[in-house]
Amino acid sequence: MNGAVVTEMGIQVDPIHDEVLFDGTRVVLEPDNVVIALNKPDGCYTTMRDQVGRECVADLLPMGDYPSLYHIGRLDRDTTGVILFSTDGSLGNELLHPSRHVAKEYIAQVKGTPTQKDLDKLRQGILIRRGENTHQCAPAEAELLKKLPRSIRAEDSCLEVGLPGTSFVRLTIHEGVKHQVKLMLGAIGHPVVHLHRSRFGTVSCGALKQGEWRMLSADEVDGLRSSLSADGR
Ligand code: URA
Repeated sequence: MNGAVVTEMGIQVDPIHDEVLFDGTRVVLEPDNVVIALNKPDGCYTTMRDQVGRECVADLLPMGDYPSLYHIGRLDRDTTGVILFSTDGSLGNELLHPSRHVAKEYIAQVKGTPTQKDLDKLRQGILIRRGENTHQCAPAEAELLKKLPRSIRAEDSCLEVGLPGTSFVRLTIHEGVKHQVKLMLGAIGHPVVHLHRSRFGTVSCGALKQGEWRMLSADEVDGLRSSLSADGR
């Protein structure tokens, strides 16, 4: 391996960086699938290639090592927070499938302060308008926050502590219609000023600063799989 003769059993190899020869012939090692969590920065597009060279998520990821990485869902350009990527397309499809009800938790900074009555509309399932169409949202979990949760550092998100005339709402949804959170909060009269995704399934950004990523451990990927509701397929 890498020019040295190996006679030990059970030696660990890195399928991307190590060169392994057997009887002089290169052994092609298939790397395991990986799942990566990125704290998407403000102003970055959720696309693997931008036609006109604008900053996109692929610019921040180890694409040289994992060229088949693909985003699991999307965040708007101005939304920060956790977004997952995988080389395993079928895991991505499972996590996004509406029947799997994977929880997506957002901290929204909104104009004004929603009342409990406003939040009840989100808890009951609100009708949103998308151009010509409407979408009946499933019941969501909605909570007005007195302050940002300690697990979220404002500087690692687009949220602005102390911005006059705004408040923070924690909203958890189990579906993923385009611009859903902005449309839901707009529909109760409290438009979103800033939006941060704090959790996707069982995964949060942890200590990642905007633009930083980390590889999920095998246990974390198992946890993610177990967040897939069994009532679907
Ligand atoms: N809902 C939105 O409105 N925007 C996002 O980026 C994600 C969910």
